[in-house]
Amino acid sequence: EYPNYAPTPPMGWNDWSYYQCGIDEKTILDNARALVSTGLAKKGYDTVTIDDCWMSKQRDAQGNLVADPRLFPHGMAYIGRQVHDLGLKFGIYEDAGTATCGGYPGSLDHWQQDADLFASWAVDYVKLDGCNVPVKPGETEEQSYRDTYTAMSRALLDTHRRMVFSVSAPAYFQGATNWEPVIRWSAPLGNLWREGADIALGQASGAEKWASIMYNYGYNVGLADLQRPGRWNDPDFLLAGDSGLSQDEMQSQISLWAVMAAPLISSTDLTRLSPAALELLGNRDVIAVDQDRLGVQGRVVQHGTGYDVLSRPLAGGDRAVALFNSSDTAQTITTTAARAGLPAADGYRLDDLVTKKAVGTAGVISANVPPHATVLYRVHPGATRGLAPATAVTWQDIS
Ligand code: GLA
Repeated sequence: EYPNYAPTPPMGWNDWSYYQCGIDEKTILDNARALVSTGLAKKGYDTVTIDDCWMSKQRDAQGNLVADPRLFPHGMAYIGRQVHDLGLKFGIYEDAGTATCGGYPGSLDHWQQDADLFASWAVDYVKLDGCNVPVKPGETEEQSYRDTYTAMSRALLDTHRRMVFSVSAPAYFQGATNWEPVIRWSAPLGNLWREGADIALGQASGAEKWASIMYNYGYNVGLADLQRPGRWNDPDFLLAGDSGLSQDEMQSQISLWAVMAAPLISSTDLTRLSPAALELLGNRDVIAVDQDRLGVQGRVVQHGTGYDVLSRPLAGGDRAVALFNSSDTAQTITTTAARAGLPAADGYRLDDLVTKKAVGTAGVISANVPPHATVLYRVHPGATRGLAPATAVTWQDIS
């Protein structure tokens, strides 16, 4: 088994959805600095990952990968140092095939050489994509993927450097009958895996972004049995801060990702984050749900027309309960403490992690939820603390 280098879901920033190949040293370092200046780094968003298109099209005479000298004139070891000097971690993208999705040299049959190079650059996180993986004669496609990812997993281990390993193999089997088996063998090879489709790109419309969030949610929410601490399902990037999505839609994505114990990896221009988007990304109580040390992915406990109720057990006996309105009109969503898996108690305290209001309830968990919005409660059994049902009191961040 690959070591558990990610006891809680990874958090950070990746350039891909917002910039795609339009990256350079300045873009990366400006966003790294913004992680710190916005305070997001302190809240856990600590890994800066450079995605595709950072390389030259050819390896050098020794067969080493080289950073494109026009985009990264000081090279990747320099970026690693800058990122570390900011107190952040450094992530990099490669591919398990002959070429990356963008057409740059892949790691196939260069496993140890590339892993050693990344270690020499002080890389802390490797995302290994799965474009252009050749099927070996006499082998199934699945076996060929398994071989390549196994080879890189071993090579990273042999560097003896602690590098979180993000596996993309399952994304290439989503919808196929062997999708779940691929996830099962991917899990012990790394720390997280992209289970499916790419989240919409930054330039997509708001409607396309919302559809893509719903698509990825729809697949990821069924995978609770396949994850465990250190082995996380990854439904791809957070789009908060991007244009097009409403505040409620951005809030829903973060809340649903947190209840699903998904990695929280922002992909937007952090140097121009609105105060509203910053507040969403930086909500400590929502982050605390995501990072809860039990590491259990929440499940749908109630499903109705245009809504889902999800519940996630948390360390200490609380539960996170999300009332998610996927429909286009406001509706009241109602469940009970019992259906959410809470133990019987005299009463329950519901802390709304977004509005920071608390109410006491005898057991009914309910809210009027705007279209595409999610009300996220932290529910404490037996802790009404004298709160009258339906009487809201405002509280400060609990974490
Ligand atoms: C694939 C991945 C994306 C991104 C691009 C880069 O599509 O799923 O996350 O890394 O490749 O080309």
